[in-house]
Amino acid sequence: MIRVASMLLRRLEKSHSIMSLSQRQLHKSVPCLKKGPKNLKGKNSSSQRWIVRQLSDPYVQKAAAENYRCRSAYKLIEIDEKFRFLKPGLVVVDCGACPGSWTQVAVNRVNAAEGFPRGMVVGVDLQYMSAIKGAKLLSNCDFTLEETQEHIQKYLPNGKADVVLSDMAPNATGLSSLDHDQIVSLQISAFKFSKVVLREGGVFVSKLWDGSHCKMFQSVVGDVFKFVKVVKPQSSRSNSAELFVFARGYKRIKQDS
Ligand SMILES: C[S@@+](CC[C@H](N)C(=O)[O-])C[C@H]1O[C@@H](n2cnc3c(N)ncnc32)[C@H](O)[C@@H]1O
Repeated sequence: MIRVASMLLRRLEKSHSIMSLSQRQLHKSVPCLKKGPKNLKGKNSSSQRWIVRQLSDPYVQKAAAENYRCRSAYKLIEIDEKFRFLKPGLVVVDCGACPGSWTQVAVNRVNAAEGFPRGMVVGVDLQYMSAIKGAKLLSNCDFTLEETQEHIQKYLPNGKADVVLSDMAPNATGLSSLDHDQIVSLQISAFKFSKVVLREGGVFVSKLWDGSHCKMFQSVVGDVFKFVKVVKPQSSRSNSAELFVFARGYKRIKQDS
């Protein structure tokens, strides 16, 4: 009996020491945490991992230094540096704009706040967005609703735009095929909208999470744009399924006009 009890005790001690070792590893042995937040107590391990990732991410630091609302800014910057499509004077719709870093980039590049020729940026999101100088923001709006899309169109000169951006994404469930289906459905909504508002030659950029419908989406987009390319910017985390479909040269067909 005493032998069994002491065996159990040893096992408990062993498992406890393993547990406290892993906790110690999360709290202290990750290098960036040594100069990072001092108080991670009370945070679960996934929050701790998130903080660690943010602190060690150069794009997060760069975004803070350059006053972008989030690191996503660099994805659009990279895409624009590759394809050079955001030009002064253009009209841009930014779908899924919150917190606003793509809007900030677009405002600067099309001169929506100042400069000549003056462009325009309309941002829309389900969530509340605080103001961005030079942008018209539609907060708390579901882009997929007809009334929201009509509302956006009212802001556009003659109801037309040169560029439709869509970085919309659903709240991920972690079930990759479900998440993929949901993001594809959001992007199909953005694609249909782009066919209504884009001028001939216009540009459509949309975000997907890789999955079984990507090829189908690319091919549907390719039917109405002269050029379609899938890109994965360096600033998009390599362990993320995220990719972007860039389409330029909208071929406006008669029944659309
Ligand atoms: C990755 S974030 C966009 C980040 C943004 N491009 C930026 O740079 O700040 C995706 C956004 O899509 C928005 N979203 C998802 N579904 C939407 C919908 N049906 N209508 C409008 N926005 C939606 C989410 O609220 C979220 O803010």
